[in-house]
Amino acid sequence: MYFPEDELPETFHPAVLDTGGRVVAVATVSPAPTGRRPGAAAWRLRGMAVEPERQGQGAGTLLLDAVVTRARGAGVEVLWADGRDSALDFYRRRGWSVEGEGYLTPATGIPHHTVILDLRSGG
Ligand SMILES: CC(C)(COP(=O)(O)OP(=O)(O)OC[C@H]1O[C@@H](n2cnc3c(N)ncnc32)[C@H](O)[C@@H]1OP(=O)(O)O)[C@@H](O)C(=O)NCCC(=O)NCCS
Repeated sequence: MYFPEDELPETFHPAVLDTGGRVVAVATVSPAPTGRRPGAAAWRLRGMAVEPERQGQGAGTLLLDAVVTRARGAGVEVLWADGRDSALDFYRRRGWSVEGEGYLTPATGIPHHTVILDLRSGG
């Protein structure tokens, strides 16, 4: 997965490795404002994915929690993502809120909603 934001020096790619050192979960995180929290220091989470045969075993939670910890440490106020409708409950279970109307992302045509974790409100 490549995003133009990969070229930003602040962008990072967290990963979860299994005991053999194989990557089983990845994401891309970049600084990016969101119109849903104007003026807030925000990071965008993209390309969150766990190997199909490793889904439902906690890797996604490990990855998401690591991103939140790093965001807090960096003074980030808001995390956000285009959340696939099929994954919204995953985010809700970790305290993220689902906001606004649904939409189809241009690249994939897959239904999404914006998901947000506002770290200023204890999220
Ligand atoms: C969505 C995804 C990232 C979640 O990662 P995961 O490692 O499978 O999730 P976990 O094992 O950490 O699950 C954490 C909790 O969320 C739940 N959950 C996981 N995926 C879910 C989903 N798609 N819908 C609803 N609940 C889900 C689990 O049941 C679990 O609940 P519990 O804590 O009550 O047991 C992963 O399944 C995935 O890559 N899916 C395909 C690609 C995708 O949808 N990416 C997200 C794009 S926004």
